[in-house]
Amino acid sequence: MRIPIIAGNWKMHKTAAESAAFVKELASALAPYANVERVVCPTFVALAGVADALRGTGVMVGAQNVSAAESGAYTSQIAVGMLEGLAEYVIIGHSEVRQYLGETDAMINAKAKLLLAHGLKPIIACGESLEINQAGGTDAHVRGQIVAAFEGIAAAALPKVVVAYEPIWAIGTGLNASPEFAQQVIGSVIRGTLTSLYNAEAAAQVRIQYGGSVKPGNMAEYMSQPDIDGALVGGASLAVADFTTLVSIAAEVKGA
Ligand code: PGA
Repeated sequence: MRIPIIAGNWKMHKTAAESAAFVKELASALAPYANVERVVCPTFVALAGVADALRGTGVMVGAQNVSAAESGAYTSQIAVGMLEGLAEYVIIGHSEVRQYLGETDAMINAKAKLLLAHGLKPIIACGESLEINQAGGTDAHVRGQIVAAFEGIAAAALPKVVVAYEPIWAIGTGLNASPEFAQQVIGSVIRGTLTSLYNAEAAAQVRIQYGGSVKPGNMAEYMSQPDIDGALVGGASLAVADFTTLVSIAAEVKGA
């Protein structure tokens, strides 16, 4: 069985001090759900404090980005080696990074390979815009993002890779995708593409999250879908009670 994984993407919220205080409270609330992988992704300046506060709790840390270059003269960027020991996961391919920071499919692929080579686990986000969705282009768009992101990644690495399907029109808008639509894209398109790139056994080991306006009120219906293994959560991950409810629902529905 794939272990459910719920990751909180805090985006540009919470200072270093707020983040460290928050996770102390969060870790005790999440303690009963050790069979669900629980990840918080604070801003870079909060990573060290959060990693310290969470050591030994089982709650993991993720970063929100990484440079595609291993090292060098890249003012403002964070190298993969700087994240070692602070984070287990790194979100790459988030639509906000693609849109505002010009992250391309080629950069996402380079970052994924770099992270895996350094023992870090990528959470590769993908998803279509409203325009593409309305034109019926979702499947082709997402398939293209997956093919590009996984180029040159060995089948043996797949258990360490997480994919997050986040339709852009559902992020922070309250307009979540229907569970059936999310299951179709995640199961047929994403896992289906991975099956054709590798094989069914390898594709079955990749955990795939849904993201986009996930809340306590809609979590159970996503978790009831067979190919949805967890959630990447923005807004609802910023409050201890909501995050804990999401994790408890995942544990219950998935029998973890
Ligand atoms: P949201 O964000 O849950 O606030 O829609 C999800 C994300 O951007 O990862």
